[in-house]
Amino acid sequence: MDDLLQVACVARERAHAPYSRFKVGAAVRDASGGVHGGCNIENAAYPEGICAETAAIAAMVMAGADKIVEVLVVGVSDDPVTPCGGCRQRIREFAGPDVPVHIAAPDGVRMTMTLEELLPRSFGPDNLS
Ligand code: THU
Repeated sequence: MDDLLQVACVARERAHAPYSRFKVGAAVRDASGGVHGGCNIENAAYPEGICAETAAIAAMVMAGADKIVEVLVVGVSDDPVTPCGGCRQRIREFAGPDVPVHIAAPDGVRMTMTLEELLPRSFGPDNLS
């Protein structure tokens, strides 16, 4: 997962977070092995900001991929920077329950959880088929 951490850390440096000053980076690996990064992008109209995970998913979709096999989120905090509720659902759109989500600081991964642990009994695309 070193490549995920590296991409997420580079992304984090590009975060636009002048309001919270809380920079976050994320990286997702697609089923073909491609790695896509994203950072949080805040807005003067506060609710319009987007999370790093959302930006990484947008980059993946724009690159033509539609399946996530691994996720990493990096932030600097005493507590683990886990994905927010909305981002858990956005990850779920492209990832199954067993997909690992690594929670990292810039110097390494702190913990790994599955998507099912983060979002139990989730509603997903299969519910609509
Ligand atoms: N944030 C993320 O980008 N990802 C997370 O997993 C948690 C929170 C961002 C949103 C906002 O720009 C800042 O961190 C503070 O909440």
